[in-house]
Amino acid sequence: MGDVAKNVTSPVVVVTGGARGIGRGIALQLLKKGYRVAIADVDKRAGGRLVTESGGKITAIATDVGDEEAVRALFAQVGETFGRLDALINNAGIARAHGMALEHLSLADWQQMLATNLTGVFLCSKYAIPLLRPCRGAIVNISSTRALQSEADTEAYSAGKGGVVALTHAMAMSLGPDLRVNCVSPGWIHVSDDVLRPQDHDQHPVGRVGTPEDVAGLVAYLLSDQAGFITGQNFIVDGGMTRKMIYEA
Ligand SMILES: NC(=O)c1ccc[n+]([C@@H]2O[C@H](COP(=O)([O-])OP(=O)(O)OC[C@H]3O[C@@H](n4cnc5c(N)ncnc54)[C@H](O)[C@@H]3O)[C@@H](O)[C@H]2O)c1
Repeated sequence: MGDVAKNVTSPVVVVTGGARGIGRGIALQLLKKGYRVAIADVDKRAGGRLVTESGGKITAIATDVGDEEAVRALFAQVGETFGRLDALINNAGIARAHGMALEHLSLADWQQMLATNLTGVFLCSKYAIPLLRPCRGAIVNISSTRALQSEADTEAYSAGKGGVVALTHAMAMSLGPDLRVNCVSPGWIHVSDDVLRPQDHDQHPVGRVGTPEDVAGLVAYLLSDQAGFITGQNFIVDGGMTRKMIYEA
């Protein structure tokens, strides 16, 4: 996968939730590959930090992806600022997955999680399409291995992420051949300051917990011309965890 030329005709990518964690890793890796990068995140302070860290090369546009007017304004600004859009990474998500027992889960909490994790993907894709289509661009949605397997008390998160996998293949059918749409489902990716224990790493078949760069590498590949025959798919990046059979002897 070759780097793209770094000039005004360089491709443009929007990374939602790009201020921190996995999105930040994706934004930085795509910047290195020559993309002009805009992040769309509710966290203005973290967005500002990343703009500074990038030497002003990354543009931060404060956006709540669950708010239709904000998303409409985001892509209007992207069109005015860059004049094109080659890729959209729907990464923004409320990553809190635990502790909402179904019988105590409020409708408001359910709706808030789905608004960001699923409706946000719909809204951003909808308003990005007019800019993406002339560039024959690509969309990558970030789901989770929790779309495929669960712990207790994770219904809202799992349902939203399962929805993202299904939305991916639906959009791939609707938007081809102009646009390709794929999904990446990460497993345990270390994005906090928490200190990991040896057993956290050891339980993974590859021997370690994942990093944002592990996800970013696959995202970059899926945007590249080398992935031109790939659409509608879900790719798992989890160090082998979803393939691990666990028996308690
Ligand atoms: N970290 C993991 O282990 C893991 C595993 C599987 C999937 N994921 C998914 O990866 C994505 C990124 O997660 P992360 O671990 O980097 O989380 P994170 O909390 O570190 O980063 C998420 C970013 O999204 C932003 N955000 C949250 N709600 C938003 C909204 N409504 N509009 C715009 N931005 C918003 C946050 O401000 C933050 O910058 C999420 O979709 C998450 O569900 C994470």
